[in-house]
Amino acid sequence: MHQVKNIPTDRLPDLLRAMPKAELHIHIEGSLEPEMIFSLAKRNALTLPYASVDELRRAYAFTNLQSFLDIYYAGASVLLTEQDFYDLASAYIAKTAIDNVAVCEIFFDPQTHTDRGVSMATVINGLHRACVEAEIKHGISASLIMCFLRHLSEEAAFETLEAAMPFRDKIIGIGLDSGEVGNPPEKFAKVFAKCRELGLHLVAHAGEEGPPAYVWTALDLLKVERIDHGVQSSKDALLMARLKKDRIPLTVCPLSNLKLCVFKDLRDHNLPQLLDAGLCAMVNSDDPSYFGGYMNDNFLQTFAATGMTAQHAYQLAHNSFEASFLDASAKRLHIDKLNAVFETF
Ligand code: ADE
Ligand code: ZN
Repeated sequence: MHQVKNIPTDRLPDLLRAMPKAELHIHIEGSLEPEMIFSLAKRNALTLPYASVDELRRAYAFTNLQSFLDIYYAGASVLLTEQDFYDLASAYIAKTAIDNVAVCEIFFDPQTHTDRGVSMATVINGLHRACVEAEIKHGISASLIMCFLRHLSEEAAFETLEAAMPFRDKIIGIGLDSGEVGNPPEKFAKVFAKCRELGLHLVAHAGEEGPPAYVWTALDLLKVERIDHGVQSSKDALLMARLKKDRIPLTVCPLSNLKLCVFKDLRDHNLPQLLDAGLCAMVNSDDPSYFGGYMNDNFLQTFAATGMTAQHAYQLAHNSFEASFLDASAKRLHIDKLNAVFETF
């Protein structure tokens, strides 16, 4: 393992900001800021059930995943046109560029939109245009992962896959999100097998609120390459050994876990434990506009709360590039740049 030189604690925040990193777990609809909800509602002549941005923000007090999802799906209903989707993704990319995110693999939930009559073309073309521009404007490699909503049926997932096929070249992979408990990975075994045949990368949310058993079935039945969240894995020693042996990445989202009451306090978060056990975990923002922070907020608050060190910071950034779906030579370039930042800091 790369040995990191001693960096005093008071310089850690600057290091966390400066180091290049990849974000592998960001729902683009979760980056929809309250101000943009209001401006898109105005542009699309929609009436919101909130009188002001402040009133909407006050509703962001969540007790669990479902209490968040109800508000998150309602917020996404202001997205109607290709321009809306482009503006949403462009705003996220501009913010994440400031946080020195060099690679982002962005989730989107097409069923949230197609079920309201928005076409798949509108969603994907708008998001994809912003991803192409990310490289030109910011030097960021941005790509799209299409998620199936697990509270809906596998049949609906198959229909969504079919509708996305004309845009196959604009997505790199498939994910699984929404309410976890009661919707185990095995519900989607057939559609994931089909996506695998199509050569799509596979990931799934598992072990966010759900039990370690869901992480096992995501790995063994869906054959995913990464687990989104996965923090419940630390309850199962055999699973921890499996994740370590196969170097399965866990895309951990500390502020999300705090706001959705997965951990009572950031000081209790098990990210240091996962890293110290040798797992390929890294930091992500999940739904930054709802959970109070983009990438660097996640890093800064989690390090301040847990006392993680510069060695942990290096490992998290390294893991993020390693776990990305870039090819080996692109990963090498990013890791070389990461090493240069740590050597010259
Ligand atoms: N969709 C958006 N954010 C999510 C999360 N944290 N878990 C499951 N589904 C989601
Ligand atoms: Zn998520």
